[in-house]
Amino acid sequence: MDGETSMFKQDFPSLRDGKVAYLDSAASAQKPEVVVSAMDYIMRNGYANIHRGLYGWSQDMTQAYENVRAQVAEFIDVENKKEIIFTKNSTESINLVAQSWGRTFMKAGDEIIISETEHHANIVPWQLLRDQIGIVIKVIPISDDCKLDISAYTALLSEKTKFISIVHISNATGVINDMNEVIDIARKYNPEIKILVDGSQSVVHQNISMKDIQCDFFVFTGHKLYGPTGIGVLWGKEDILNAMPPYQGGGDMIETVTFEKTIYQKTPARFEAGTPAILEVIGLGAAIKYITDIGMDVITRHEAEITEYAQEELDKIDGITVLGRNANKVGIFSFTMDGAHPSDVAMIFDQMGVAVRTGHHCCMPLMQRLKIDGTIRASIGMYTDKDDIDRLITALKKAQEMLR
Ligand SMILES: Cc1ncc(COP(=O)(O)O)c(C=O)c1O
Repeated sequence: MDGETSMFKQDFPSLRDGKVAYLDSAASAQKPEVVVSAMDYIMRNGYANIHRGLYGWSQDMTQAYENVRAQVAEFIDVENKKEIIFTKNSTESINLVAQSWGRTFMKAGDEIIISETEHHANIVPWQLLRDQIGIVIKVIPISDDCKLDISAYTALLSEKTKFISIVHISNATGVINDMNEVIDIARKYNPEIKILVDGSQSVVHQNISMKDIQCDFFVFTGHKLYGPTGIGVLWGKEDILNAMPPYQGGGDMIETVTFEKTIYQKTPARFEAGTPAILEVIGLGAAIKYITDIGMDVITRHEAEITEYAQEELDKIDGITVLGRNANKVGIFSFTMDGAHPSDVAMIFDQMGVAVRTGHHCCMPLMQRLKIDGTIRASIGMYTDKDDIDRLITALKKAQEMLR
């Protein structure tokens, strides 16, 4: 495993000199050489807009763009590539569903269930919808160990429940929610309820199959998956997507336009108005190829080893409380340090070349629930090795010394 580990790090130009122990992958991941060079290559060797030109460059770009759609479908185990929609990020994917499906198929008084661990991206779009049409947002509470309270969730279901939108793995705690349990309970209660899974943090750590997670919508974002910023994915079932009105209007999403009436394309073009993020799609394709060539199971195994090591080392330090310590989780360690403010700790870490995130992690309601202002969050990626963890622990001890 050691050989594999150092090999991964060498694939990432920004990490090669070892100056920074980068422990903020849950916010955004570093980019492998292959992603940088795939985007660079296109810009140097024949870039053009897609779906329009009859000349070679445009046709090649169209082909490359559509190939990535097929690649994404395979990556999340979906047969029908028309069900893959390219968006800007997870945030846009969720807003699309809220504004298109929600505004069309929900009405005042209808209920949506989310949870206390949601990222703001899975809270605010539903609040916008609530303010627009009067839906009711219900929230699944969590235990002190940051696990979903499943009996409270079951009690929230009602005949007014139309939608459930839940994070698969929390970015603030790393706790893995048992999506099959959540989905099974909803399906048994009422098979008509639509379910969205926010896979922003799960798709980067483990194999994901839409045959296994029986949801209606799945979203993720490219920049956490070692791809570029500006590209995200929405997966939805074809019949559901085709029943939804477009989210934005413009070029490429239409069959015909007159001043009186416009006929829209079917999915996916229906939801990809305007010139899409062509270069970013190519970059995402390169990232997915890189991951699948290594094998997601190899990455999962490597990360499990680093996660276990990090937890063991953190457990040896007094005065640290790790959120969700005893839950089933991935390598996201969100902790508080007795007597220290997270931003003071992060400043000391920065001087020691250890990059972590501090604050509420776009999960203010979760922080309120846990009665804390924020945490220090160290999160691992496929390139993280034991040396990074050792540097974290050294920095932690130093911060304790200085802030005591
Ligand atoms: C669980 C989760 N959902 C949604 C998002 C939003 O992702 P983006 O900002 O790329 O839209 C994030 C990003 O931190 C996240 O961790």
